[in-house]
Amino acid sequence: MGMARPLGSQPNSEVLSIGPSGLDLEGNQVTEPMTEEEIAIAIQAYASGAANAKRIGFDGIELHGAHGYLIDQFLWEKTNQRTDRYGGDIIRRAQFAIEVVEAVRAAVGPDYPIAFRLSQWKMNAYQAKPFETPEQLEQLLSVLVKAGVDIFHCSTRRFWEPEFAGSDLNLAGWVKKLSGKTTITVGSVGLDNEFTSLYTEGKGAGQKDIDDLLERLNNNEFDLVAVGRALIADPAWAVKIREGRMDELLPFTPEALSTLI
Ligand SMILES: Cc1cc2nc3c(=O)[nH]c(=O)nc-3n(C[C@H](O)[C@H](O)[C@H](O)COP(=O)(O)O)c2cc1C
Repeated sequence: MGMARPLGSQPNSEVLSIGPSGLDLEGNQVTEPMTEEEIAIAIQAYASGAANAKRIGFDGIELHGAHGYLIDQFLWEKTNQRTDRYGGDIIRRAQFAIEVVEAVRAAVGPDYPIAFRLSQWKMNAYQAKPFETPEQLEQLLSVLVKAGVDIFHCSTRRFWEPEFAGSDLNLAGWVKKLSGKTTITVGSVGLDNEFTSLYTEGKGAGQKDIDDLLERLNNNEFDLVAVGRALIADPAWAVKIREGRMDELLPFTPEALSTLI
């Protein structure tokens, strides 16, 4: 992206690390904070990436604002200690995301779908929550909607877990309720009870969980369901669910991850 910065002390000496404050998830200083010029270059890179996706025929784009990726690092106060306009309370920490969404919207035009992925966890930091309360989440959602987001893709590790106390709603349910926008839920859909690795920690979804999922979907808690691992194991997964052929589902196993290579 044309950034002139020495690579010597980076975690991966061959790849440039950038971040709002140069901090890793544990708070260690691993690189310098991004300069305003680098921030502007990164925003333009998102915009040109989206424009390219549209030009070559994609139906929409999704911005990755979850899992500790760059936008999420700006959102989370532990990785964003900036004192300029990109740091501070949740609205200020959202400034980078806002400018990315606005630049992408300007690049793709008014009628092109923009999704935004968000999460309350990060790789190796499962309690790293950018939003402590529904009020904070609502503040973020409203500025993102104003900037041009159409769809929120709400990443959880387990779709059945309530996001905030006092309600059964999961993250996608809260986001839909607070923003009124289309939401996607994701996280361990269709994984059976035997599966004990790769994020599920011994509890996966069985028939009861599929019933729970369908009930939430029918109640309009969320609008769409994203399926990852279950679909890798059984490409006919969605058809079988729709037709109630539960006994024909092929269970996911970690080995399935290597079957398409
Ligand atoms: C082996 C594996 C690798 C993944 N790698 C990434 C990744 O690099 N970046 C990311 O944002 N999510 C990653 N994910 C999370 C997926 O994007 C998705 O949220 C997750 O698989 C939930 O869907 P599922 O439970 O239906 O599989 C990964 C998931 C798995 C199982």
